Amino acid sequence: MNNTKNIVVLVSGGGTNLQALIDAQNRGELGCGKISCVIASKADAYALTRAADNGIKTRTLIRKDYADIASYSIAMRDLLIEEEADVIVYAGFMTILDENVCDAFAGKMVNVHPALIPSFCGKGFYGLHVHEEALKKGVKVSGATVHFVTAECDAGPIILQKAVEVMDNDTPETLQRRIMEQAEWKILPRAVQLLCDDKIVIEDGKTCIKD
Ligand code: GAR
Repeated sequence: MNNTKNIVVLVSGGGTNLQALIDAQNRGELGCGKISCVIASKADAYALTRAADNGIKTRTLIRKDYADIASYSIAMRDLLIEEEADVIVYAGFMTILDENVCDAFAGKMVNVHPALIPSFCGKGFYGLHVHEEALKKGVKVSGATVHFVTAECDAGPIILQKAVEVMDNDTPETLQRRIMEQAEWKILPRAVQLLCDDKIVIEDGKTCIKD
C-alpha cells in the first residue's frame, strides 16, 4: 500500500518558504509527504524557478485571469482535485480563497503567517505590511504562526507558533528576514510533517499534537 501524501504548495512570490520545505524533504523531514506540485498565482513568481530547479511539477493559476475570488476559488479547487492533493500548503500565497476550496479541503490546508496570530493578521496583513504594522505598534516580540486555513482569513486553528525578538533598529525588511530564518522556515516544515503523519487533532477549534 502506498501511503505517500501529495503535498501541493501554493505560492505567489519569492518562495523562501517553499525552499525550506524542499530542504526539509531532502533531509527526509516531511514524514509521509512528498511535494508533488507547486501552483503559483503569478506567472513571474520566483518560487516557480525554485520548484523547477528541484524537479517539481509547476502549474500556474493566474489570479488576474479571473473576475472574482469565487471563480478563482472554484478553478483552484478543481486544479487541486486534478493534482490529487492530500495536503495543501500556502507558502507566501497572497490570495484569500473562499469556502469553495476551504470546505473541500478542510483540515488539509495550512498557511504560514509572519506574526503571532491573533496579532497583525486578517485582511490586508500580508508580506512586509505585517512587519511595518508590528514596528509601528512597537511590539518587542513578534514571530510566525502556522494554522489551518478556513474561509475566514488567518482565523483557522493554530498548529505551531514561534516568537522572535524585535530589535530597536529593525526595519520591516530586517524583521521579516529574522522571522523567516528563526521561525517560518522551521515551523512550516515541522507542521507539514505533523499533518502528513496524521499527528494533528482538531477539537473545539484548537489543535492538539499527538506524539
Ligand atoms: C512570508 O513571510 C510569508 O509568511 C508571508 O509572505 C512571505 C512570503 O515569502 N505570507 C503572508 O503574509 C500571507 N498572509 P516567501 O515567498 O519567500 O515564502
